[in-house]
Amino acid sequence: MYQLPSHMQAVLASEHGGNVQDAIRHLTLGELPVPVPQRGEVLVKIEAAPCNPSDLIFLQGLAGETHSEAAVPGWEGAGKVVASGGGGLANWLRNRRVACAAPRGKNGTWAEYMIARATDCIPLRTKLRYRQAASLIINPLSAIGLLSVARASGHHAAVSTAAASQLGRMLVMLSQQQRFPMLHIVRRATQVDQLHSLGAEHVLNSSATGFYGQLAKACRELKVTCALDAIAGTETGKLLKVLPRDADVIVYGALSSEPCGQIDPVELIYHGKRIDSFYLNRWIRKQGTLRMLRHVYRIQNMMLAGKIQTQIQREAGFVDLRQALEQYVSEMSLGKVLLVPSKT
Ligand SMILES: NC(=O)c1ccc[n+]([C@@H]2O[C@H](COP(=O)([O-])OP(=O)(O)OC[C@H]3O[C@@H](n4cnc5c(N)ncnc54)[C@H](OP(=O)(O)O)[C@@H]3O)[C@@H](O)[C@H]2O)c1
Repeated sequence: MYQLPSHMQAVLASEHGGNVQDAIRHLTLGELPVPVPQRGEVLVKIEAAPCNPSDLIFLQGLAGETHSEAAVPGWEGAGKVVASGGGGLANWLRNRRVACAAPRGKNGTWAEYMIARATDCIPLRTKLRYRQAASLIINPLSAIGLLSVARASGHHAAVSTAAASQLGRMLVMLSQQQRFPMLHIVRRATQVDQLHSLGAEHVLNSSATGFYGQLAKACRELKVTCALDAIAGTETGKLLKVLPRDADVIVYGALSSEPCGQIDPVELIYHGKRIDSFYLNRWIRKQGTLRMLRHVYRIQNMMLAGKIQTQIQREAGFVDLRQALEQYVSEMSLGKVLLVPSKT
């Protein structure tokens, strides 16, 4: 039988706010009592947990959550269920390897143990390693969700921004699989080749001279009527301008850390263009259990077949996590930083 310790190590974000560098600098390492799961909950021994842009948003205090008690960051991770608080599903999960999402408003995955709702755990296929499983939920499901929202809104081609991100790379694969033409925008010349090598046909570099002219031309040729905007800031208004009448810009990220800007009301009023948003939690709630089971089964298949991969630039233990996060924010496309609690 697994012997639970009384205390665990955890990353603590006791001070939210400031820019992302300040927020990382303010992270500390602390000791907390190992939490006790209630009915319908399980205790997961975390084996790996990534840092996503949404974690950086949380660290800066911009997630809009009431985190009066939540000091431990980390929205997702993977590990083994070591205790159940009771209830059919929670008991069934005992001793299983799972991917898990942090419960809203409670402590997250950047710790040795985390309480998860049993319904927020995905049992893992035997061959799927924790390294990949740690990023099974947020990006793969969002990539599927974004494409399905674009299609359901009647679009037949889209622009994808920040396309060298892990999610952007998943969109390369899914859009090809679904024969949905996509124009991928990256911001460094090296990323153009990387995306071509993944099979992307249309890739533009936003740092190149004459970029917006090239973008407008490519949008016309591919009949693009939708933009998936991970950057926001002035990018939102510029994308809106470039797209044809009745187009949609779907904002799903805030990488610029700026409010959406340069939005010309003429485009909205007279050209019928719209700005919408995508949020994974909201999309999941609309899916229903059966459809979600199908999605996660499909994602695990794609991961096992190597069709969807999350690149990892560094595995860090508790001690070197801050340094690893600083490295991640300086060049995010190199891959995720993964907290591996067992690494000393
Ligand atoms: N709405 C939702 O429910 C939802 C769910 C999942 C993900 N997301 C969003 O999806 C996006 C991608 O997530 P991810 O985990 O795949 O990211 P990631 O792998 O960490 O990569 C981030 C990418 O953004 C680029 N980038 C950073 N700042 C930028 C800026 N100011 N302008 C242009 N590009 C910039 C980076 O390029 P460099 O390498 O050049 O730094 C990198 O390619 C994020 O915005 C995330 O918040 C949203």
